[in-house]
Amino acid sequence: MSRPLHIYGGRVVDPSQGLDSPAAVLIVDGRIEAVGLGVEAPDGAESIDATGLTVSPGLIDVHVHLREPGGEHKETIASGSRAAVAGGFTTIWAMPNTDPPIDSPAAVGYVRAAGRAVRASRVMPIGAASIGQKGEQMTEIGELVAAGAVAVSDDGHPVHNSGLMRRLLEYTQTFDIPVLQHAEDPGLTPGGVMNEGPVATALGLRGIPNAAEAGMVARDVLLSELTGGHLHVCHVSARQSVDQLLWAKERGLRVTAEVTPHHLLLTEELVRGYNTQAKVNPPLRVEEDVEAVRQALVEGVIDVIATDHAPHHYDEKEREFDDAPFGINGLETAFSLCMKALVEPGHMTLSGLIDRMSCAPARIMGLDTGTLRQGAPADIVLYAPDESWTVDPARFYSRSRNTPLAGWVLPGRIMRTIVSGETRFEAEGDA
Ligand code: DOR
Ligand code: ZN
Repeated sequence: MSRPLHIYGGRVVDPSQGLDSPAAVLIVDGRIEAVGLGVEAPDGAESIDATGLTVSPGLIDVHVHLREPGGEHKETIASGSRAAVAGGFTTIWAMPNTDPPIDSPAAVGYVRAAGRAVRASRVMPIGAASIGQKGEQMTEIGELVAAGAVAVSDDGHPVHNSGLMRRLLEYTQTFDIPVLQHAEDPGLTPGGVMNEGPVATALGLRGIPNAAEAGMVARDVLLSELTGGHLHVCHVSARQSVDQLLWAKERGLRVTAEVTPHHLLLTEELVRGYNTQAKVNPPLRVEEDVEAVRQALVEGVIDVIATDHAPHHYDEKEREFDDAPFGINGLETAFSLCMKALVEPGHMTLSGLIDRMSCAPARIMGLDTGTLRQGAPADIVLYAPDESWTVDPARFYSRSRNTPLAGWVLPGRIMRTIVSGETRFEAEGDA
């Protein structure tokens, strides 16, 4: 049994309890024992001086691509979960689009066990929705759940077949897990590599229209209404998708949604010059879309922020734009990019941001973390919201360096990440 841990001198921001004030946090046996100004260290406790820092429930990311098995040159379960704690994430959900895909109980069990062994972020496996992620035959969802799967998804690809989507939304209710949908109508995206519009035309690149996403969201929302199943819409990028989500929320459907840090700030303008670091699916859109998804997040029409951390090797991103893979490496820049997109310009408070990156993911997915309430697992992040740093991909814990943010100066520095009362990341220097 480990020593009690006493974190003192910091500002505690825990929106799950409406807390934003100076306070100490006491951890006993890996769980939160008490939070408050007068909370003292018991004899023999280990102390952490958090003076000048903010203390919040650890961040939770429900959309992360680790590349193991099959793509270990891009990321492993170990490197990805270390990148996660460096970014303040205490829990990550691993997407199943590996090679081969995570579509069997053995594969789910492997991801879970390998994740535990690293002792960095918690790693929770998402099982494939269809065998081989081929979009045809449903996986044995009960067995995947028994092995530790927390959701199912064919992400990387959409579940295109409406009948399959209907059955997924029906069947997953037995196990109370969500279906995570990469909303894209493939009939509208052949050869598409960036947002459809004048910039794509000027660059001579094929476009991906907003309707490819919003049309699929519309269908899925109706299938959620039909079945009562929990639909979670991944990486919303288009303003028309927000309209569909609003419709669903107004009817009280079991529909939740996420937006990535990059879709909250960046636009297709970054693609000019054939910048493959800005090639991502769904694509970076236009300012109107960015404003719409940002507003939706502020209003709760979009529930959470998720990174869609998609590591890719340098050589692959060096290819011609058409041939380079989609994806942005997100775990280690997510918090700071959101500080820049949301908190700095005053769209959201820091507490609002912590809600969308920690409390809300826990709430919509039914996790017992994302809070500093007494008895909760002590998953905590300590950070300096006002300190800025320069993004240097060479220093990433991730095995890949694919980001359009190299050289950017961003606010908000993660100083320490604690999982179950154990420090799993500490920034070099102080704290
Ligand atoms: O940009 C993306 N990268 N979008 C996806 O849907 C898949 C992901 C990946 O696996 O690289
Ligand atoms: Zn996706």
